[in-house]
Amino acid sequence: MPRHSVIRPVTLKNLRSDFVWGTATAAYQIEGGAREGGRGVSIWDTFAHTEGKTRNGDTGDIACDHYHRWAGDLDLMQSLGFPAYRLNFSWVRLQPTGRGELNAEGIEFYRNLIQGCLDRGIRPFVTLYHWDLPQTLQDEGGWPARSTAQAFADYSALVVAAFKDLVHDWITINEAWCVAFLGHSWGVQAPGFTNDRLAIRAMHHVLLGHGLAVKAMRAVDPTLRVGITNILSRAQAYSQSAADLEVTEQLDARMNQITMAPVYLGAYSESTFKVFGEFGLNREPAAGELVQPGDLEVISTPTDFVGVNHYHSMLAQADASEPGGIKIHQAQPNHQSNWGWPNTPDALYEILKRVSAEYSSLPIYITENGITLDDYVDPNGEVSDPDRIDYLNGYINAIGRAAGEGVDVRGYFAWSFMDNFEWAEGYSKRFGLVYIDFATQKRIPKRSAGWYRDLIQEHKKKAGK
Ligand code: FCB
Repeated sequence: MPRHSVIRPVTLKNLRSDFVWGTATAAYQIEGGAREGGRGVSIWDTFAHTEGKTRNGDTGDIACDHYHRWAGDLDLMQSLGFPAYRLNFSWVRLQPTGRGELNAEGIEFYRNLIQGCLDRGIRPFVTLYHWDLPQTLQDEGGWPARSTAQAFADYSALVVAAFKDLVHDWITINEAWCVAFLGHSWGVQAPGFTNDRLAIRAMHHVLLGHGLAVKAMRAVDPTLRVGITNILSRAQAYSQSAADLEVTEQLDARMNQITMAPVYLGAYSESTFKVFGEFGLNREPAAGELVQPGDLEVISTPTDFVGVNHYHSMLAQADASEPGGIKIHQAQPNHQSNWGWPNTPDALYEILKRVSAEYSSLPIYITENGITLDDYVDPNGEVSDPDRIDYLNGYINAIGRAAGEGVDVRGYFAWSFMDNFEWAEGYSKRFGLVYIDFATQKRIPKRSAGWYRDLIQEHKKKAGK
């Protein structure tokens, strides 16, 4: 593929005329202003300030300083012609202790931000939980405690009540799998536990919180549109040996089935029970156990769309010396990403086909997808990122291919609008379409931002809008 010429997905024509194009961010990754506006303390403040938890000890205290620079950031987004924006309300900015009334300063900040989007013709999609659990709720047990699910639902209803005149598209939870497993089993994200019993408890309660929230939100605003965003990865067998096929199914159960089956089919899959039964996932719902009577009905409360975040494609090999007996290989050794993540767009095509065939006929939004590269400002003051253009082109092409085969895909949000605090990796990973010089807070649209703008225009023209 010629790396420096203008490339375009050949399947663009397959995408609906009202296809939603946007970019995405999360509050703790961009806002900063950590001690302003009456904001409370979240598990990410605690985690990032704990020695050894993030690269170089980086924190989100300042991040992109979006808390102070939001108006300029929205001007930039408008000038780049990105029509939709998936953003996240910080729980602790709106409800500092995770219970009780919302914080007026937090409401004011987000009302200005949303109004700022609307004034610029940008359609907001708001994520309610993108990982910043109030520390007070963590102190009461966090997601492994059932009470956190209800606290999240109560919070969600209050937020909808305060924003229903401005926001119509809501996402309850970002990536239940990461919350549960990166946070409670791998220990690489807040709150940093390494205990599979806690992880499966967190998983079930995050999903329960989602279902309770959907019900509570709809009671406040029956006209809203709501869905959950899960991270979906492709798991393929390293070889066709029986052992590799078996661990591939297990890996799929751990990463994909564990969220998709309960939310869209109303039951955990057989493979999920096989993997997590020994860690407390009970097959027969029972009072006093993790899965209680009625939970799965709540978790599978109907939603309006399916949110898909996609980054990974993996090969699974049976290996008793590895955790869970599975050695994981990235699907593409010749990656461009500086995190070793692959550029395998066919994985997204397959995932979209699978979601619509196995899990749901609801409209699908790709709510995150993107690549981190070693971006730098060149002597001309420009950031040239042909590998990101190549990546985005391939994945958007894959979406068009799935759409051409009847999958109901309605939108795509590139991760991310701008470089930001990449959780445990701190500022070392740049996923943005806009480059941030963190020392000066200067914003420089990368070449990919212009490419994306032109692509959106071209689609508009093709769609006759
Ligand atoms: C996703 C997260 C997002 C960002 C990207 C790279 O898992 O939702 O906040 O960190 O990965």
